[in-house]
Amino acid sequence: MTEHVLLRKVRDAFHTRFQSEPALIVRAPGRVNLIGEHTDYNDGFVLPVAVDRAAWLAVGPSGDNWSKVRAVDMKNDDQTFPTDRVPSSSGGWADYPKGVVWALLEHGLNPVAINAVLTSDVPVGAGMSSSAAIEVAFAFAWTQLSDFDMKLSEMALLCQEAENQYVGVNCGIMDQMISACGKAGHAMMLDTRSLERAYFSMPKGIAIVVANSMVRRSLSGSEYNVRRAQCEQAVSVLQQHLPDVKALRDVTPAQLERYKGQLEDVVYRRARHVVTEDVRVLQVCRDLYEGNMEHVGKLLLEGHKSLRDDYEVSIPELDTLVEAAAEVDGCYGARLTGAGFGGCIIAVVAEDAVPSVEAHLTEVYIAKHGKEPTVYVTRADNGVARMA
Ligand code: GLA
Repeated sequence: MTEHVLLRKVRDAFHTRFQSEPALIVRAPGRVNLIGEHTDYNDGFVLPVAVDRAAWLAVGPSGDNWSKVRAVDMKNDDQTFPTDRVPSSSGGWADYPKGVVWALLEHGLNPVAINAVLTSDVPVGAGMSSSAAIEVAFAFAWTQLSDFDMKLSEMALLCQEAENQYVGVNCGIMDQMISACGKAGHAMMLDTRSLERAYFSMPKGIAIVVANSMVRRSLSGSEYNVRRAQCEQAVSVLQQHLPDVKALRDVTPAQLERYKGQLEDVVYRRARHVVTEDVRVLQVCRDLYEGNMEHVGKLLLEGHKSLRDDYEVSIPELDTLVEAAAEVDGCYGARLTGAGFGGCIIAVVAEDAVPSVEAHLTEVYIAKHGKEPTVYVTRADNGVARMA
């Protein structure tokens, strides 16, 4: 097998920067989510796939008290920070490794100082978890170099803490967990309450097509937090009638209907998205297991409508792409993937229909929105690993 081009790229860049050989090279993937959107901060279910696009990190001990990290994709931006105390935030990409240092120190672990070079082909701002990939790559490198005894799931939680508390983005656990624990050829069902995982193999002959609207996610930060607050509001009202409810995960669609009148309309619709989405995730798992792609596709389209109408996180560009994909013979279904407000859609497509889906998406999108989407086929890949 030929060496991955990004592996060679980070290794060469490490030589240039540090005139030495890296101790290891780590790869941590981005992700798309098949279904289970905005459920992970409601203790619900998600079904993401680690993709063939990833952050690559060449790394070795620095030999002094300072970590020196270079981002090849940021015009070789160099950042230096301590690892024996909390590094101060600089607001840029280096906040991801710095956040990981912060989280390790919080857990009483002392990471060694490193030399590192980073590159990534996960598109930034496209809702494919480019930031989780960077966090997980650094956390994995530190775990290896500092000999920490840490499970991959613990590492993912630590990265989520870094993102929530150091970087200041209030995300759930899905992205870090799939980057850490993904499995080639499989989608990973994660129960975000117990963190139990089950892997479902992607049926043969099926491709996951990703189309990037090229609308960078905007508003997502503040609107994401508004959605979270609305879910919490739904829980606090429902708890008055259903004392055992701790999160929307504990509410069935029938229960929600029963207490609909107690909720503000917008709060009811947000909750309806979440409780029906949890049901869809479990059903998609069963359908994947049975190879019923028609039904998977139907649920993906229903999931998109629910995100569009009830959760209101879609935008016209994403709706265009989903509708266009669904028009093509051999496309089972499509939906926006990730937080919404821009970024990508995924379409689940019979392999031989991929060229017509790509062509149709491009044609319709240019005609309607005057710009070209990036369309490519991705596959379910492994989670974080040492590659050299
Ligand atoms: C972002 C967050 C995830 C998840 C999705 C929506 O990607 O990082 O934790 O909440 O949005 O499903």
